[in-house]
Amino acid sequence: MNFINIKKIAKVSLVSTLVVSGISWNQKTENSKIEKNPIITINGFTFTDLNRNGKLDIYEDYRLAVEDRIQDLINKMTDEEKASMLIGIGMPGFDVNTFTFIPGADKGKVPGEAGGTYEIKRLGIPAVIVSDGPAGLRINPTRDNDTNTYYATAFPVGTALASTWNEELINNVGKAMGNEVKEYGVDVLLGPGMNIHRNPLCGRNFEYYSEDPLLSGSIAAAMVNGIQSNGVGTSIKHFAANNQERNRMGINAHISERAMREIYLRGFEIAVKTAQPWTIMSSYNLVNGEYTSARKDLLTTVLREEWGFKGLVMSDWFGGYDGFGSISSKNAVSDVVKQLSAGNDLLMPGLPSQQQAILENIKNGKLTKEVVNTDLRRILELVMRSPVMNNYNYSNKPNLKENAVVTRQAAAEGTILLKNDNAILPFVSKSAPLAVFGNTSYDFIAGGTGSGDVNEAYSVSLIDGLTNSGFSIDKDLEGLYKPYVADQKVKEMARREKEGGLLATPKRIVELDVNKETIENKAKASELALITIGRNAGEGDDRKVADDFNLAQDEVNLINSVSEIFHAQGKKVVVVLNIGGVIETASWRDKVDAILLPWQPGQEGGNSVADVFSGKVTPSGKLTMTFPVNYEDAAATKNWIGTPAENPTSVNYEEGIYVGYRYFNTFNVKPSYEFGYGLSYTAFDYSNLVLSSKTFNDKMTVSVTITNTGKTVGKEVVELYLSAPEKSIDKPREELKAFGKTKLLQPGESQTIILTLNAKNLASFVPNRNAWIAEAGKYKVAVGASSLNIKKTAEFTLEKEKVVEKTYPAFALDTPFTDLKH
Ligand code: BGC
Repeated sequence: MNFINIKKIAKVSLVSTLVVSGISWNQKTENSKIEKNPIITINGFTFTDLNRNGKLDIYEDYRLAVEDRIQDLINKMTDEEKASMLIGIGMPGFDVNTFTFIPGADKGKVPGEAGGTYEIKRLGIPAVIVSDGPAGLRINPTRDNDTNTYYATAFPVGTALASTWNEELINNVGKAMGNEVKEYGVDVLLGPGMNIHRNPLCGRNFEYYSEDPLLSGSIAAAMVNGIQSNGVGTSIKHFAANNQERNRMGINAHISERAMREIYLRGFEIAVKTAQPWTIMSSYNLVNGEYTSARKDLLTTVLREEWGFKGLVMSDWFGGYDGFGSISSKNAVSDVVKQLSAGNDLLMPGLPSQQQAILENIKNGKLTKEVVNTDLRRILELVMRSPVMNNYNYSNKPNLKENAVVTRQAAAEGTILLKNDNAILPFVSKSAPLAVFGNTSYDFIAGGTGSGDVNEAYSVSLIDGLTNSGFSIDKDLEGLYKPYVADQKVKEMARREKEGGLLATPKRIVELDVNKETIENKAKASELALITIGRNAGEGDDRKVADDFNLAQDEVNLINSVSEIFHAQGKKVVVVLNIGGVIETASWRDKVDAILLPWQPGQEGGNSVADVFSGKVTPSGKLTMTFPVNYEDAAATKNWIGTPAENPTSVNYEEGIYVGYRYFNTFNVKPSYEFGYGLSYTAFDYSNLVLSSKTFNDKMTVSVTITNTGKTVGKEVVELYLSAPEKSIDKPREELKAFGKTKLLQPGESQTIILTLNAKNLASFVPNRNAWIAEAGKYKVAVGASSLNIKKTAEFTLEKEKVVEKTYPAFALDTPFTDLKH
């Protein structure tokens, strides 16, 4: 019995119907009085004919302030109800006494949901349903005795979305995703995921956005705003420093306060301050000796007191224990007190042993009334704003057709053109069939595995996408690949099912060995070869260097033979990278003519890639992380994956703030492709860089004019890097502090992009002063098309040091070490 199996069981919820005379419970009419006896029905019970002289209780009166109604509810709750409400409704079908599953017990309100909050019928409190995840709603697509289907749209994975660098587009993706959440009867989506890509091997990097916190935070904020505009909630996760998967429930990450605040928390801070997600999910791991779900400095001091977070914190599923086995141990009891007291308001998915432990600790006073009521208040606030409380009549018919258009566009815009020698792309000739190699071309990977997966109705492969765009595909190759891939896939899926289902680590299918003679024939018959390299990963384990970060020998052989033979015939080779995380590119990129990186582009992936390949869409995606030459090049790889390697319990983040390009650029390590890199089919000129002033006061605007100087339409991502004076503290050579994206510019058309710098953008966190401080001196603004392709620079001065924000002491180290310095 292990955690992996638990995830396979769907949950049964205890949802009832709640009818409130068709009027929103969420309506807040402060200081109003009951003028006449309204007819209010809760769970079939009408409140006008109560033996209460027609009077409503405060909590029932939707016209009163929500705070007062919540207080009234709390006053009326028994200790047992309080203890139940502080945990989720569990995993229906999972028997915690015997630790076994009841097969086929997937009967929640929304089968496939990840869990929900506790329902108290007598007080009209419904269960709020929560469900994964970052690439779209993950619910079961079919239900017993029901001919309807419940497919959701598989949007591009987080990394692909962030590669658009387009907040408006992300906001639209969020709106589309939120529509599915709401129309399928879910209240909170468990996403977006926004941990930092500390190391290319993290198995969940595909769910996350970037190695840079500003980019992560801005994209997450746009996504949260989009999803929540539907009146449903989000849960930004995993808070914080969940940067590896191996032993994720027990790994203790040792991180300096500066690295925490500047790298691992900064994105969350931006998302919280600009989008106020309804909820946040704490992470599994420990930071400096304590579970994040039990860290008061993280969940209360920093999150609420410093940043002003207004929502609820829930734990990750079974998080905060020394692994699943110890949930009934004494340790579990003390964790419950610590977690709830730290500000982890809701323990998910919720277990009877936790309810018992909470009750005992309420009675013995270890859980104070104040803690219990504060956590409950936040849970009830979530309930009050939820669609279920508003009695939302969901249709089970989201806009799947329109959302397919949204995902197709988003994936095309997130596609990065890494290489395009002699402008062979866009490829327009349709005179000969395309020779398509690589297993994955025939079975595109829409997204990763685990809770980040989506049950989509279909997934467009590369060959289908190319065919839809009017290209013809070589039939001999198709005839070889299709049966091979289908057969291998059946075996792989059976293996995964046996080894843990949703959480089984996916394995790559070895490339079909196409013989040289066939390749030679194809080189004669077709104009161009396409080779797709595929990768998949998911929660529960990390990727490996051999045969994953590095290409496997069968892949090297394929690239070698196809490029040698095609080039000998004067034909070109394009590689498509259908991957979820960074791979090695330096050793083979010179062998091919063009490289397209669509990541895992969601269910319309093949169409999206065909749109870019054919030139219907000009690529405008840029890398949100560094592609190193060798895996070992990044500082953060030095002590990966912690010790002991098989099941690490401790990992030191000795690279400090030098994560990603902050390391590569400052230490002059040449990458294969740098952060912010991406080519276009057109060209852009940067001119007229203007700072709003030569000296910095509270704010500054930086404007730059972008002109499309090429022959085709295109969009340009404009990146602003700042180099700060380095007197009292070590600093990266430069850091991304703002970015923007042009509209679709016609050839010859210009647009002026205006970016804003605020005081916090100038500041670094200075631990011994407990403050974000902008040092006096000269600041260099560098605006460009990537972190190494700077087009224009300017300088401004900060005349006097600025203490931008004072902070409370937090995240004391549990083992001494010093951060890397340059
Ligand atoms: C994952 C979360 C997810 C939760 C519920 C956990 O294993 O880490 O990201 O939201 O399960 O499915």
